Amino acid sequence: MIRGLIFDLDGVIVDTAKYHFIAWKKIAESLKIPFGETENEKLKGVSRIDSLNKILNWGGIELSKKEKEYWLDIKNSFYLKCISKISPSELLPGISKLIEDSKQSGFKIALGSASKNAILILEKVNLINSFDEIVDGTIVSLSKPSPEVFLRGAKLLKLLPEQCLVFEDAQSGVFAAKNAGMKCIAVGNTVNLEGADVVVESLKEISDIKSFISEYIIEE
Ligand code: BG6
Ligand code: MG
Repeated sequence: MIRGLIFDLDGVIVDTAKYHFIAWKKIAESLKIPFGETENEKLKGVSRIDSLNKILNWGGIELSKKEKEYWLDIKNSFYLKCISKISPSELLPGISKLIEDSKQSGFKIALGSASKNAILILEKVNLINSFDEIVDGTIVSLSKPSPEVFLRGAKLLKLLPEQCLVFEDAQSGVFAAKNAGMKCIAVGNTVNLEGADVVVESLKEISDIKSFISEYIIEE
């Protein structure tokens, strides 16, 4: 029986995935490493440091710890500039209604994000008080597809993994949910999201979370 819902942040709740893309592209280009949509897809859900390591690896470049810190700072400063003016208008379609409906239907809800900027973003989009629990990049040490972020979420919600349903937009996140033994609704492009229990193009498709779960999710 599903009793808890765990939401990824970037690309599920708020339209920030595009800013991560722009920021990483800028860094990759400065390092003369080719970077496009295909590479970006592989960074979704991945922590800041692991993302830089992947980019460097693609470019066959080795950097010292100090040099890496330099690029991580540049990336994050640029990203912070991009999100400095975000407001509830950048919430993705259907998310506000889904969160409201989930709470009214008695589900416990948690955030499960790799981002160290999660709290800041939730404040900016007025959702900081909407979650029962928040697990973000300041707490977890392993990047998705490790199940750590979602297992911690379930634990804080005092639920078993099989009682949790994850919303994800990234392939690494879908794998993380499955590795955690949870059900997963993938949001976005069907071709990129292997292994999800259901894929929706937009959360707008979920007008009633209880009926959606009973129709599309096989509960244990
Ligand atoms: C994830 C994003 O949510 O957070 C990744 O999908 C990002 O693209 C990661 O790299 C870490 O984010 P931040 O804000 O800590 O740099
Ligand atoms: Mg995401």
